Amino acid sequence: MKDISGPIDLTGKVALVTGASRGIGRTVADALAREGSNIAVCDVLECTDTVADIQKREQEYLEFRFDILSKSDVHNTVSEVIKKWGRIDILINNAGILGESTKELEEYTEDEWDRLIQVNLKGTFLVTQAVWPYMKKNGGGKIVCMGSIAGRVGGVLAGPHYCASKGGIHAFVKWAAKNGMKYGIYVNGIAPGPIATPMTENEPYRDEMVPIGRLGRPEDIAEAVVFLASQASNFITGKILDVNGGILMV
Ligand SMILES: NC(=O)c1ccc[n+]([C@@H]2O[C@H](COP(=O)([O-])OP(=O)(O)OC[C@H]3O[C@@H](n4cnc5c(N)ncnc54)[C@H](O)[C@@H]3O)[C@@H](O)[C@H]2O)c1
Repeated sequence: MKDISGPIDLTGKVALVTGASRGIGRTVADALAREGSNIAVCDVLECTDTVADIQKREQEYLEFRFDILSKSDVHNTVSEVIKKWGRIDILINNAGILGESTKELEEYTEDEWDRLIQVNLKGTFLVTQAVWPYMKKNGGGKIVCMGSIAGRVGGVLAGPHYCASKGGIHAFVKWAAKNGMKYGIYVNGIAPGPIATPMTENEPYRDEMVPIGRLGRPEDIAEAVVFLASQASNFITGKILDVNGGILMV
């Protein structure tokens, strides 16, 4: 009989999900809880709906509200999670902002560029850095970072700063995967195509943009996250998984 991984099972795992208040992050938290994981949710907004979802799944949770660029809040959060559960098995770096997408290059200000690169790219770095030593100590873990098709193709409907931030995340994933291997830390990314969430509700995204015939839903991304967070992906690291309804096939 072959040694196969069996159905996905995250029973008793501890996951930290950033940007968990709404959209993709909320659905990711719910899907991880469905598979048996306890979840720490964080966001600059309240995570009331997300917490209600996790409670319905009868999983334990912790809730944190802070800006991801506050290094002290990031470290306090990780400490609180370690205090409650003793470890972090899964980190989902999902928090992000889209920014302006329709302007000419010369109209983007330095402040806009800096804020977006900081939230998307530095935020991913800060949280990963805070979790990393605990994953090392526990013999490994699974990290999933939210990239974007924008980081692959120069944007579908996204600005230069957003594309650069997501391209940076894709490269960071590869660096972290290479350097995490010896500790059993897997690091992968997801590059979603256009997904209907609060982030994109005022953007001119249309079903016809997608070969499959509809915009993506948060669940489409959440199921890919569950796969990359679970034992079903134990021979995959440093991968940017395209989940885009067939817009980009590489
Ligand atoms: N929706 C799409 O089409 C799409 C496509 C590709 C990639 N993505 C990426 O997926 C991720 C989730 O996007 P979404 O569509 O669910 O967006 P969303 O705006 O609905 O959710 C993003 C969450 O991140 C939180 N967040 C933003 N800045 C933060 C900060 N400084 N500190 C803490 N939390 C912060 C927000 O409050 C929000 O709850 C993002 O990284 C986004 O770039 C989305």
